[in-house]
Amino acid sequence: MNVQWYPGHMTKAKRQMQEDIRLIDLIIELVDARVPLSSRNPDIDEMGKNKSRLILLNKADLADERQNEAWKAYFQEKGFFVVKVDSRSGAGMKAIQNIIQEACKEKIEKDRKKGIKNRPIRAMVVGIPNVGKSTFINSFAGKACAKTGNKPGVTRGKQWIHLNKEMKLLDTPGILWPKFEDPEVGVRLACVGSIKDDIVNMEELSLNLIHFLRERYAGALKERYGVLEEGEDVQVMEEIGRVRGCLKKGQELDYARTALVLFDDFRSGRLGRITLEWV
Ligand code: G4P
Repeated sequence: MNVQWYPGHMTKAKRQMQEDIRLIDLIIELVDARVPLSSRNPDIDEMGKNKSRLILLNKADLADERQNEAWKAYFQEKGFFVVKVDSRSGAGMKAIQNIIQEACKEKIEKDRKKGIKNRPIRAMVVGIPNVGKSTFINSFAGKACAKTGNKPGVTRGKQWIHLNKEMKLLDTPGILWPKFEDPEVGVRLACVGSIKDDIVNMEELSLNLIHFLRERYAGALKERYGVLEEGEDVQVMEEIGRVRGCLKKGQELDYARTALVLFDDFRSGRLGRITLEWV
């Protein structure tokens, strides 16, 4: 399956981000904990050289906890600071504060040597569409944040969210586009909903998901739908459709509706906590 994307958007966004990155000390990169590699754009490593780096495994509540831990270790080994978060509930937000101080220790130390006291850490939140950037910013900034107007010379017309004395966030989340060179990346991103459903063949995608689940999370489909996980993937899909009453007139199976049921359940965690990309 081939998923299309639009590099035109990306060039402009990338230029903007390169400009914005000059203004900040720390990059807070959100990745989807269910697909931690596929939901990254490797350009950010190049753009973010010399900046403190924090990776948030967002939607950790939907991902397999064992894999969350494995991915955390994986990124830490590569030199990133890492926190698992659930931006919707706010879990992990407290841990972030301390980690940020640690991630920016060098900057704080440099400031101190220069005699600069209490200059806030400036951070930017980046990630691919739908990874949860807005939800994270709202949750992290909370209600206490105050938006300030333009400060000429300092912000160059940018909006900053003043979180507290120690930190401020660049208001607009940096949107990155995932790399699609590997078709598997497209499939994984479509599964988690980072690619619009209307440009994806959802029925084919269902077979991909069913295949993966049977291999790595045997029993998950059985538990949710009471189906036997036997035979071809398409047979399992048909069984799910029948159990869920996804039928057209004349008792013909409605594959499109079956796909909707399956993805609705998967994306909302009703199939269990599932990680599609394993370390
Ligand atoms: P974006 O700015 O990066 O594009 O993403 P956004 O915050 O809009 O979040 C995309 C979807 O992901 C939203 O769901 C949001 O609630 C959900 N989400 C964000 N972070 C988390 C998380 O840590 N855990 C879980 N379970 N969900 C998360 P939606 O269905 O599009 O909207 P809504 O109905 O939840 O408002």
